[in-house]
Amino acid sequence: VAEVKGGEDQGTSWVGKELTVRGWVRTCRAQRTVTFVEVNDGSCLSNMQCVLTPETEGYDQIDSITTGASVLVEGVVASSQGGKQKVDLKVSKIIVIGESDPTSFPIQKKRASREFLRTVAHLRPRTNTFGAVARVRNALAYATHNFFQDNGFIWVSSPIITASDCEGAGEQFYVTTLLSNSAEGGCLVNSIPSKDGRVDWSQDFFCKPAFLTVSGQLNGETYASALSDIYTFGPTFRAENSNTSRHLAEFWMIEPELAFADLNDDMACASAYLQYVVKYILENCKEDMDFFDTWVEKGIIDRLNNVAEKNFVQMSYSDAIKLLIGSNKKFEFPVKWGLDLQSEHERYITEVAFGGHPVIIRDYPKEIKAFYMRQNDDGKTVAAMDLLVPRVGELIGGSQREERLDYLEARLDESNLNKDSYWWYLDLRRYGSVPHAGFGLGFERLVQFATGIDNIRDAIPFPRVPGSAEF
Ligand code: 4AD
Ligand code: MG
Repeated sequence: VAEVKGGEDQGTSWVGKELTVRGWVRTCRAQRTVTFVEVNDGSCLSNMQCVLTPETEGYDQIDSITTGASVLVEGVVASSQGGKQKVDLKVSKIIVIGESDPTSFPIQKKRASREFLRTVAHLRPRTNTFGAVARVRNALAYATHNFFQDNGFIWVSSPIITASDCEGAGEQFYVTTLLSNSAEGGCLVNSIPSKDGRVDWSQDFFCKPAFLTVSGQLNGETYASALSDIYTFGPTFRAENSNTSRHLAEFWMIEPELAFADLNDDMACASAYLQYVVKYILENCKEDMDFFDTWVEKGIIDRLNNVAEKNFVQMSYSDAIKLLIGSNKKFEFPVKWGLDLQSEHERYITEVAFGGHPVIIRDYPKEIKAFYMRQNDDGKTVAAMDLLVPRVGELIGGSQREERLDYLEARLDESNLNKDSYWWYLDLRRYGSVPHAGFGLGFERLVQFATGIDNIRDAIPFPRVPGSAEF
């Protein structure tokens, strides 16, 4: 359907041609002499309007042509008589492939709330909104690979199971499987290690505690220390018990790592990347973006055009604190040098102070940032940067990495992290260390930003959040 209706002429050059469409019935409207069946095959937002008459082969199955049923339709493309679309399909033959009981099919014509649709996540891709989100998400992934590949980055697969905690925040999910020493022998039993350390790790599958990765960065740094510029793009996991519209327990992250690079190079890369992918969807997902502009977030196309064209604001954390204090606005959380910025502060900065444009904040206090960030000469701040966007807040978090062995060891100690378990990471500073920098972008937050979808649970096909791993 996209091939026919997606062109500039909206399908008129197809008039007179034969066409077969396979898809799912959205609606079926019977009139006196003709029946209109709207069929969607997921390739685009538009349905193919199929016009059936009593002469159509398969017309006797008309009672089975109900919302949700899968059908095959054959016919000839014709100029549409009704107003909205340029062409429709005069159907010679219709076959119902899979029936759908109209009394129990949960997605009926009336508009369902997104909350409700989360309870039927297996069927929600059949709605306009979730079809459009899936296509734009796909386009963003494609554009991501294009951007990095075109700029000489190598895609690296970082491990999903790991023994290290990149962010040092203790938010990992355990992946622990004890080898059973019971009767059958060799079988595996799942077990969560007890906090008092009574687990005999020699009996564990990995012989030590292992987790689902929170970030591929540390592994990415090893490849950047050999191949120069690399990026990862894969799933990451966080056991943050936060029920917000911006947090998932399982999310996808894009993590470029640039060798021989500093924080300015990192910020330039993040800005160029974001502008590239935004431009890409504006040019390649017009129909879906128009849909979001009309139904999800009014004006999003203008705002994204602005993002693609205008340079992003940059400011230091210290200036951001001054700005927030100077605003005299009452915030729920305190604003003070040394405290982390909360979502309400981030949103104020990008939405109010800078009129909805992305803002990069740099040079955060070292106490509130991860151990691997490079210490600035002031001894108090690190070369970190967060890119903030309206509605979503933090879209990107990155930094220049500490490439000096002695500084890094001192930071691990200060952070109460076990130096021994980072031995391989420290080796990168022992053998051919280079200044390097990178960032992580939460892919679902990018989908939120690009579509206007307000809850992150609607930006991924099957959201994983506290209390829910259905589907
Ligand atoms: O700021 P974070 O924690 O940074 C890192 O993990 C670094 N190791 C990245 C790097 O420098 N290579 O996470 C990076 C981004 C955030 O800015 C946010 O967009 C997203 O990941 N993110 C989440 N997205 C959805 N759900 C969550 N629970 C998220 N936690 C972080
Ligand atoms: Mg962060």
